[in-house]
Amino acid sequence: MDFNNILTDLQDGILTITINRPDKLNALNTPTISELKVAFKEVYDNDAIRGVIVTGSGTKAFVAGADISEFTSLSVEQGAVLSASGHILFDMIEACPKPVVAAVNGFSLGGGNELAMSCHIRVASDNAKFGQPEVKLGLIPGYGATQRLVQLIGKGKALEYLMTADMMTAEQAEKLGMVNYVTTPDHLMVKAHEVLNKILVQSPMAISAIIRSVNAYFTDGVNGYKVEIEEFGKCFGTEDFKEGTSAFMEKRKASFTGK
Ligand code: COA
Repeated sequence: MDFNNILTDLQDGILTITINRPDKLNALNTPTISELKVAFKEVYDNDAIRGVIVTGSGTKAFVAGADISEFTSLSVEQGAVLSASGHILFDMIEACPKPVVAAVNGFSLGGGNELAMSCHIRVASDNAKFGQPEVKLGLIPGYGATQRLVQLIGKGKALEYLMTADMMTAEQAEKLGMVNYVTTPDHLMVKAHEVLNKILVQSPMAISAIIRSVNAYFTDGVNGYKVEIEEFGKCFGTEDFKEGTSAFMEKRKASFTGK
């Protein structure tokens, strides 16, 4: 994969995607969003990729937001188009059938925080700062934070952070359930790999079914319980299920193929 704004590195089934605009604190401009879409299409299509870690280049920022310099001349219609285009990417990440972990290594603001929230799990370094400062610009979040922040930390605290533009520390973010783990900057990628590897030894078929079932809870017009029933039933037709149950009966470790 050949990109200008992101770096990709595939090792042992884990694709690390690094947003790589450190002089702009990894702000998400339109080309970066487009490249992320291409990278995630590859994640969906390439069987060699079993899980993903998303992080930012440098030590200061994960992603400091959408690129504000692109906003200045937008019309009402163009603003909506920009937002819709971002939503396609973040929905794609949230619905990714393979686990996606955000390794948040500094400022996680605006569209950057929305990127982190679209990932399945977040691990943060203790210098990370999280926030949705759009109201300072006379804007609201356009890549999903009015929904996903509520899902992660609840309505009261979400409204507070969305309306005050206050940043949360990593410690506050962990307390609120915004991030799964906080660790030191040096240990961040180790911790992200540790969490992801714990998932990758499980059945990939079951992991995808978990992602679909949990996402169903938040999908309008969809009954999550019904989705769970269907997904549970489908598991019985997989090789992973046969392997998992045989391994249990034979008192050995399961070796899943993801089929
Ligand atoms: N869009 C575009 N450029 C951005 C950016 C963004 N969201 N965030 C940072 N940058 C750029 C700055 O303009 C600056 O570029 P320059 O050196 O060419 O002037 C560079 O990144 C470094 O940022 P700077 O502001 O000098 O760093 P700082 O340490 O003083 O402050 C922040 C860090 C994160 C507090 C500050 O950059 C900021 O408030 N960024 C915007 C956050 C935001 O509102 N995000 C939501 C957007 S919808």
